[in-house]
Amino acid sequence: MKVLVTGAGGGLGTVVQQVAAGMDKVHLVAYSRAELDVTDEKAVARAIAAQMPDYVINTAAFTHVDQAEIQQEEAFLLNARCLEPMAAACQKAGAVLVHISTDYVFDGTKDTPYTEEDPTNPINVYGASKREGELAVLSYEKGIVIRTSWIYSLHSKNFLAAIPRLLRSNKEPLRIEHSQKNSPTYAPHLAEALFVLMHRGITNGLYHYTNTGGGCTRYTFACAVRDKIRAKEPGVVLAGIKPFESGTPDRPGLAQRPLYSVMSAQKIADLLELDIPHWQSGIDFLI
Ligand SMILES: NC(=O)c1ccc[n+]([C@@H]2O[C@H](COP(=O)([O-])OP(=O)(O)OC[C@H]3O[C@@H](n4cnc5c(N)ncnc54)[C@H](OP(=O)(O)O)[C@@H]3O)[C@@H](O)[C@H]2O)c1
Repeated sequence: MKVLVTGAGGGLGTVVQQVAAGMDKVHLVAYSRAELDVTDEKAVARAIAAQMPDYVINTAAFTHVDQAEIQQEEAFLLNARCLEPMAAACQKAGAVLVHISTDYVFDGTKDTPYTEEDPTNPINVYGASKREGELAVLSYEKGIVIRTSWIYSLHSKNFLAAIPRLLRSNKEPLRIEHSQKNSPTYAPHLAEALFVLMHRGITNGLYHYTNTGGGCTRYTFACAVRDKIRAKEPGVVLAGIKPFESGTPDRPGLAQRPLYSVMSAQKIADLLELDIPHWQSGIDFLI
């Protein structure tokens, strides 16, 4: 099976390459942003025509949620408008397009896990641009959209991945947000599920993939990290952790975020017969 990955220098793209490296039957070609700008239609068409992959995994995205409020044009170009030409290039090559999307397509007003059937209603530019991208991919007959959330691994450059270092180095207690509830997703678990999906020959559909366990806040995640470090290293000195509730997502200059965007991954678990791990299980690899 030949797989082409875009955005290969990013957090998920890096992990997809690592997971593929251990697989005999996968020939992976990975393009970082410098090697393939996904907003360059002609370059995308050339790369896909030259490689003739079975699957294209698009992990390239405008992922800076606050910056998307300011750079709306760029966010829509990268998260939405480049996807129709990418799907057209896939169609010519007979490739399936696997596109990664987000829980931020939801408004957060539910209090039970979002399923694929729930209506979307993005409350920030990033979420709106990702939703438009989903629609472009899903209108292609061989388009797959995987919604995920709070991806973390050693290769992530986000707050969840930074928590072990902050706990070890900070002298003052860490103040950590405790009102936004979400589902952390350990990137290697997601990458492995993508390969199961491709090996099974799935060619279309909308699926949620996150770790299980009902989600958590950043504060709860940090407490779990602290407890796991302490269990491994009794007597270790770590910074304290204090919760703060942002309450309203309305923070001047920053994007609004859904307060609750836990997703159910039951549909993909049933389809692929996956036993999806709990969100805490990836923490062992972070510390
Ligand atoms: N991280 C999360 O918590 C999270 C949550 C939900 C959904 N997602 C989705 O998951 C996917 C992967 O996210 P991630 O965490 O791996 O994000 P990431 O680390 O920010 O990776 C995105 C990659 O896209 C690249 N890129 C930017 N512009 C590009 C262009 N014009 N052409 C080609 N590549 C370009 C970036 O390169 P530069 O670094 O050089 O800009 C970066 O390497 C994205 O679709 C994202 O929306 C992520």
